[in-house]
Amino acid sequence: MTADGLTQARTKMTEAGVAPTAIDVFSRFYGLLESGETGVVPETDVAPLRDVPHLADLEVDEQAAREALAVTAVIKLNGGLGTSMGMDRAKSLLRVRGDQTFLDVIAQQVLAARAETGARLPLVLMNSFRTQEDTLEALSRYPDLAVDDLPLDFLQNREPKLRTADLTPVEWPADPSLEWCPPGHGDLYAALYASGTLGRLLDAGFRYASVSNSDNLGAAPDARIAGWFAASGAPFASEVARRTPADRKGGHLVVRRSDGRIILRETAQTLPEDASAAADIETHPYFNTNNLWLDLRALAEELERTGGVLDLPLIRNDKTVDPTDPSSTPVVQIESAMGAAIEVFDGAAVLEVDRSRFLPVKTTNDLLVLRSDVYRSTEEHRLVATVDAPLVDLDPKHYKTIAAFDARLPSTPSLARASALTVRGDWTFGRDVVVVGQAELTDAGSSAQVPDGATVTADGVA
Ligand code: UTP
Repeated sequence: MTADGLTQARTKMTEAGVAPTAIDVFSRFYGLLESGETGVVPETDVAPLRDVPHLADLEVDEQAAREALAVTAVIKLNGGLGTSMGMDRAKSLLRVRGDQTFLDVIAQQVLAARAETGARLPLVLMNSFRTQEDTLEALSRYPDLAVDDLPLDFLQNREPKLRTADLTPVEWPADPSLEWCPPGHGDLYAALYASGTLGRLLDAGFRYASVSNSDNLGAAPDARIAGWFAASGAPFASEVARRTPADRKGGHLVVRRSDGRIILRETAQTLPEDASAAADIETHPYFNTNNLWLDLRALAEELERTGGVLDLPLIRNDKTVDPTDPSSTPVVQIESAMGAAIEVFDGAAVLEVDRSRFLPVKTTNDLLVLRSDVYRSTEEHRLVATVDAPLVDLDPKHYKTIAAFDARLPSTPSLARASALTVRGDWTFGRDVVVVGQAELTDAGSSAQVPDGATVTADGVA
């Protein structure tokens, strides 16, 4: 008799040396998956989140802010692979401003904040088995980054992809590394705990962590938020921002009627009949920026109490074993979101922040805007929008993957005078191109060139 899927998966994880805590977390989720748990949050079960304090309106004592930042660590999530942009390595290694990568900007933001505030501010990346090597090599250019003997990164866990047909671990002899996946950023808690990083940060005198995605350069170290968080006494806080009609991806925060807790509702957790209510930005005005603040002591207590297994909702991610080959074996990846931990902590808080703290790069459209003159970099290496960002919509057929995008946009056009740029068809941009107004390039039927120095407007290339 063959062992059941969970037993097979546990054995595979144990043999691969996965931490026992991670195996326990996986097993809990496996149970939820098997029982058909969908994690759906119906609109009738929730109330809108209201009356969120805004950072700009808060009085934060300067001295208290300084003291809070002095015991804050900066954690960046760097384990994802940017698969939506056709990548199989860390997105943070992409060039984003001139020759600088996301990782360069992050390192410089931290070094600048240290110089300005005197805080030690260790930078700690959560890498996955796919992102660690490249990332650490890139960071070796910053010999001053490491703080005392604290590690520059810790490794997140890995888990087997499961065959959709019977939830057993998939086998893929052509490339066995594709049998594994990182379990989503909700793994942060188990990984911090099981890797010993949480204990080391506490032992080194750090009390708080400012956590954010490495693809969000808006989330620079911020003393005022640290001061607010410390004074709030909350064990956990989420930075939220006002939703605009353009906010497509990303969950929003709502209040669960049954117990009054704030919870995160991802798009995947919304019933089809609730789609319009969930998308209504008047009803649900705040989205989750995925910038979190953790009280490391409170987190350690909760993890001790639960043996490292937080009660996070399951996210079922249906893929194929080889993400680049849609005809390969269908698999389920068990995932969870770190922002969902807001429901686990009594007294968790939310803070509204400006849009400038949320500059994510999910698509090549986002990357083009960030690379362009719509933003300028300050001395502190923060990115500041010089104008309202234009709506960029590049033809998914020709610009979706980073390789295709880079080949067609080897130099970034000026977008500061554009309100929109829509490109259909296969256009390659020359140097010093300027985009103006509601610009549009239509499909010429074959590949076409925007010449050096051209202007692109509503009427195409001029
Ligand atoms: P996203 O959810 O945007 O995923 O991650 P991604 O992996 O970057 O991109 P796609 O969906 O594959 O295209 C948000 C942040 O969480 C990190 C990512 O590196 C990114 O900074 N992340 C994601 C992890 O650290 N671990 C994971 O398992 C997943």
